[in-house]
Amino acid sequence: MTEQLGTLDELPPSYLKELTSLDLVPLWPFLRGFLPYGIPERKTKPAHWAYESIRPLLLQAGDLTPIEKAERRVLVLCNPGHNPEDALVTPTIYVGLQLILPGETAPNHKHTPSAVRLVVEGGGGFTTVNGEKLPMEPGDLILTPPGLWHEHGHEGDGPIIWMDALDLPLIYNIEASYCTEGEPQQMKPDPDGSQTRYRRAGVLPYQSLNQRDYGFPLLRFPWREVREALKDLSKITPAGDAVQLAYVNPETGQECMPTLGFSALMLRPGEEFTLPKRSSSGVLKVVEGRGQADIDGATYDWDQHDIIAVPTHSPITLVNRSGQEPAYLFLVDDAPLHRKLGFYEEFK
Ligand SMILES: [Fe+2]
Repeated sequence: MTEQLGTLDELPPSYLKELTSLDLVPLWPFLRGFLPYGIPERKTKPAHWAYESIRPLLLQAGDLTPIEKAERRVLVLCNPGHNPEDALVTPTIYVGLQLILPGETAPNHKHTPSAVRLVVEGGGGFTTVNGEKLPMEPGDLILTPPGLWHEHGHEGDGPIIWMDALDLPLIYNIEASYCTEGEPQQMKPDPDGSQTRYRRAGVLPYQSLNQRDYGFPLLRFPWREVREALKDLSKITPAGDAVQLAYVNPETGQECMPTLGFSALMLRPGEEFTLPKRSSSGVLKVVEGRGQADIDGATYDWDQHDIIAVPTHSPITLVNRSGQEPAYLFLVDDAPLHRKLGFYEEFK
């Protein structure tokens, strides 16, 4: 183990000047910053956003800025460890809360970053993905995968609010982020068709067995069904084990998006649970209930719809404050990216 690396100060100014003139830099003064021992250098902080604080400001944005001037009316959650203009909640994940009012639309486009929507409140909203009209009910997860056309609309009453989660910081920093605008989509005759085709786990459209080129077959995961599945799973899950379901591609059994992973957690009444420290970063969104979270030594009280940032290499302890009702949380993380890059780790 190298005890002390050389510094810039130890080098003659004339030498440094010559390096600079040739667009060169010595590695050794910076090496430990790039490759620290044992644990990565993390700018990202654990952080908590209370929904009750954000909601009135988001509704105010509805008064202040017409949708035509916003395109997407979103308040972005900015991790306090980073510059606000970087618009990231973890190193790879962007999260915003988006508002659509009755009759409004968010126009059709497609882009290279992957995006998902987790519906927070309101009814009558829809997202159309490549011509498939997907209803948006509270708690539903809607995928808008990279390169697929998508637009949003609202045919109900009252505001609709959802959480957007994208791998935008990652795609932006590899200088691959861009978008294309399109005309409003022609609706396919089978709205919510992906739900129909992949109605039940373990049963697939027969022709998918011949498929080799897997895309994004299932675009909407209804919360109503995920919640029921968690309740059933909780009955056979021993105390101390996680009641947690992963959202997957039904044709491959693998994560349903390229870089971001999604799971739903249930905390039984009064339950305290610690998820292992992992190499990935993540964002917790409270779907139902209230409780406490300890993220890498920072403690937060959470309520319904609150959002919590989880840096890489952070253990998570969650407590359900209710002794009568279960609590439900949604987790988005970049574990699929870490797995693809070959360094995903869980630490005991
Ligand atoms: Fe988009």
